[in-house]
Amino acid sequence: EKKLAILTSGGDAPGMNAAIRATAKIAESCGFEVYGIRRGYLGMLNDEIFLMTGRFVSGIIDKGGTVLLTARSEEFKQARFREIAANNLKKKGINYLVVIGGDGSYRGANLLYKEYGIKVVGIPGTIDNDIYGTDYTLGFDTCLNTILDAMSKIRDTATSHERTILIQVMGRHAGDLALHACIAGGGDGIMIPEMDNPIEMLALQLKERRKNGKLHDIVLVAEGVGNVLDIEKKLRGHINSEIRSVVLGYIQRGGTPSGFDRVLASRMAAKAIEVLNNGEAGVMVGIEKNEMVTHPLDEVDSTEKRKSIEKDYELALLLSK
Ligand code: F6P
Repeated sequence: EKKLAILTSGGDAPGMNAAIRATAKIAESCGFEVYGIRRGYLGMLNDEIFLMTGRFVSGIIDKGGTVLLTARSEEFKQARFREIAANNLKKKGINYLVVIGGDGSYRGANLLYKEYGIKVVGIPGTIDNDIYGTDYTLGFDTCLNTILDAMSKIRDTATSHERTILIQVMGRHAGDLALHACIAGGGDGIMIPEMDNPIEMLALQLKERRKNGKLHDIVLVAEGVGNVLDIEKKLRGHINSEIRSVVLGYIQRGGTPSGFDRVLASRMAAKAIEVLNNGEAGVMVGIEKNEMVTHPLDEVDSTEKRKSIEKDYELALLLSK
C-alpha cells in the first residue's frame, strides 16, 4: 500500500496551504493514503501524524500560513532522534514523504531518504527565494507584493515630509526580496548582502536625487546587510535630509497567497507526485525557465550554487538613480 505524509517546515510562507491541498488531492487521486504531520520534523518526532481527509484541505487555498503548523527542530540534527521520527512513520506504514519548506528542511529530508529509505520529495516554500534549483520559491511573489504595498504607503509620507526612509526587508542571507522590491517599487537605493554596499555610494546617489528636485528617497535594505538602525546612523553623517527607518517584519510572511504562488504551489505538488509515481525520490522540485524540474537533494544542500543576481542588481542601480 502507498502511504504518503506531508509536512511543512521552517518559516511559513504564503502558498504553503495551496501546496498541501494540491499534494493531498493529487496523491489521493493516484491511490495514495494521505497523512499530515503537525509541526514539521518536531511533530514527526512526537508522533503528531494523522490521517488527512479531503475535508482537512478544503477552503485553504487562499489562506496564508500553514494549516499543518511549522517548527524548526534542533533535535532532528541528531541521529538518535531521527531514528525515533523515522520509526513513527514506519509503524504507520508511511514510505513516502513530501516536505514543503525552506533551506534547512532539505537536510532533514535528505537524511531520512538516505538513512531510512523514505521516498522523499521537497517543495521549496520560503519567502526568501534563496534555494538553489528553482527560479522562484513559494511565497516569494506574495511577499514581494506585500512589500510593494508597504512601499507605496511609506512613499506618501516620505514625500510629504521630504524624508529619506530606509525599509528593512526579510530574506535572511539573500537579497532577492530587496532587489525585486527596488525594481518593481521604484526604490531609490538598494543594499543587499551579495554586494558591497559602501554607504558613501548610497549617499552620493541620494544627494544627486535631491539636487534634481526629488522630494523623498526610499531605500531598500535587505536584513542580511545588518541592522537598519546602524545603517541609518552611518548615513546621517553623509546626507542632510531627515532619515527614518522601518523594519517591515512579520507582516511580510502573512496574507493571502498571490495567484502566481497558488499556481506555482499546485504545479510543484503535481510534479512531486509525478516524481514519486515514477519511482524517483531524494529530489526537490522547482521551476526553471517556466518548466517544472527536479534536482537531487544533495545539490540543493549547497548554498554557493545559488543563481547569480548581478544583472538584476545592475538594473536596480540603474533604475534607482
Ligand atoms: O526564512 C524566512 C524568514 O522570514 C527570513 O526571511 C527571516 O530571516 C527568518 O525567517 C526569521 O525567522 P524567525 O521566524 O525565526 O524569526
